[in-house]
Amino acid sequence: MEKREKLYEGKAKIIHATDNPDLIIQYFKDDATAFNAEKKGSIESKGIMNNKISEVLFKYLEENGIPTHFVERLSDREMLNKKLDIVLVEVVARNIVAGSLAKRLGKDEGELLPAPIVEYYYKDDALGDPMINMDHIRILGLATDEEMAKITEYARRINGLLKKFFDKRNIDLVDFKLEFGRHNGEILLGDEICPDTCRLWDKTTGEKMDKDRFRRDMGKIEEAYAEVCKRVCGEQTSIPIF
Ligand code: TMP
Ligand code: ASP
Repeated sequence: MEKREKLYEGKAKIIHATDNPDLIIQYFKDDATAFNAEKKGSIESKGIMNNKISEVLFKYLEENGIPTHFVERLSDREMLNKKLDIVLVEVVARNIVAGSLAKRLGKDEGELLPAPIVEYYYKDDALGDPMINMDHIRILGLATDEEMAKITEYARRINGLLKKFFDKRNIDLVDFKLEFGRHNGEILLGDEICPDTCRLWDKTTGEKMDKDRFRRDMGKIEEAYAEVCKRVCGEQTSIPIF
């Protein structure tokens, strides 16, 4: 496998071509942003931890019937993935009220939802990723109805699977964001699944173990990511935990 030119650089990742046109290398950076990149910073070793956490979660989802772009983890910060034509719809699934849902509905964070909520956002930084519905998706030509039916079914199944996975590790899966893409006519789960893209709360203490610690200047950010990494990957880390 040969690494070739840079195809794209995002806020937390760099995508490189390879000598195989079907495969790309995803490089995980330590850079962190929030509020559409208004807030910028760095979380030490985040890229290494997110790469490992994503590997475990992609493998777990694949084993449970969810097709993903994951091929293999190549190194600390590199993951080999199938190349996707990304669907410009970010899918958020929620189990507990938090973040923008709390603001939108005027509810307190922490309220358990009677059933999971799935939401769609237009992946467009210039517009600030606005929330959209199926009519918007159709009119903008972002995906077909068939693709969105598949994506929504996967999102709900992924939510059930991840909830169970985190529950066993004494973590509440509050909400999370997914991205999907097309590969040889198939819809695959893409991007990453990690504390940048999920809200994860310790079931016993309620402690936040995700990027909200960075967004809200709560401190102990590296420690929180390391604790998630330890519980998900079963690895010891040198960073002291809570
Ligand atoms: P929200 O409550 O801010 O809408 O976020 C919902 C979930 O989506 C939360 O787990 C964090 C994740 N998320 C991202 O991964 N990227 C983003 O740009 C935003 C705004 C949220
Ligand atoms: N990653 C997003 C950004 O910088 C926001 C977030 O995760 O809160 O725009």
